[in-house]
Amino acid sequence: MSELNKIVQKILSNKKGILAADESNGTMTKRLESINVKSSPENRLKFREILFSSDEGMKNIGGVILYDETIRQTASSGKKIPELINSFGSVPGIKVDTGAKRMVPDPTNAQRMIETITEGLDGLRERLAEYYELGARFTKWRAVININKSCPSELTINANAHALARYASLVQEAKMVPIIEPEVLMNGDHNINKCYEVTSKVLQECYRELKFHNVDLKGTILKPNMILPGDKCSDKSSSQQIAKMTIKCLKENVPSEVPGIAFLSGGQSEIEATQNLNEINKINDTNFIISFSYGRALQQGALKNWGKDQKDILNTQKIFSKRSKMNGLASTGKWLKELETE
Ligand code: 13P
Repeated sequence: MSELNKIVQKILSNKKGILAADESNGTMTKRLESINVKSSPENRLKFREILFSSDEGMKNIGGVILYDETIRQTASSGKKIPELINSFGSVPGIKVDTGAKRMVPDPTNAQRMIETITEGLDGLRERLAEYYELGARFTKWRAVININKSCPSELTINANAHALARYASLVQEAKMVPIIEPEVLMNGDHNINKCYEVTSKVLQECYRELKFHNVDLKGTILKPNMILPGDKCSDKSSSQQIAKMTIKCLKENVPSEVPGIAFLSGGQSEIEATQNLNEINKINDTNFIISFSYGRALQQGALKNWGKDQKDILNTQKIFSKRSKMNGLASTGKWLKELETE
């Protein structure tokens, strides 16, 4: 087993998944303002430290994705944040893209104004060396794909896949595992078939570019969206249907060398994200480890509780631990709805 593959196994094996706590300061400010807490480096750390130091919660967390600010911070115990994460047998990771920026608009098509290209390749080799020194052993880069009547364009799919492949090859050179995240957004009124069709195209293009850039797929993690109808689609789908189409899409488009797949939650509720992951694992007849890399679906409830009383660390940790445990069970198809009310 290669060193990179060992890192993948450490992050995703044994009912473990990833806590995506890499919100940029802009996104974290929105989250904290929603609970009437001032967004400052100290407050961002306070909330995150509550999660990262939860004995129970960290049992099912094999990796934590950090933001540039957080990887440099020190916990109240005096431990550096990567050290704190390591102390639970979990792997520190880092978001290395610098955000999704608007593509140069196509003047003939106003609908394409929403298309983005993810930036962050300039100086990436040097930044990766620094993050490795700080303790990171895996990284994340998120490409964003929108669906509407004119989107996504071939151009956007291709440009984002190309950037993901350049990123991934640099990350492996730096001896870290790249998370490949091409997120097809669930915003819109498109149906589940459209999501399946677009996600298939996007994955095909990503793996074409990754091969072209000689990326060792055994040392990567794919972080895709599930196959879901758009949030404004009137035709809702059952968890079973979502699971069936998601597995079909992965089987058809993800090379079998990829060891692990960790879904993003993408705006699903906490319970939906757990239930859908569980259904997917119930019918998983592939060799992929299929787990989670959730941001909102692991943190929402905990954040809300912390907003009510910032001294209530115990209950904030309990709420986070419950989601972590439920998603751990879902990563082996052993979750049951009844467990939610226990
Ligand atoms: P969500 O689970 O909230 O979609 O966040 C995951 C993530 O890391 C998006 O890049």
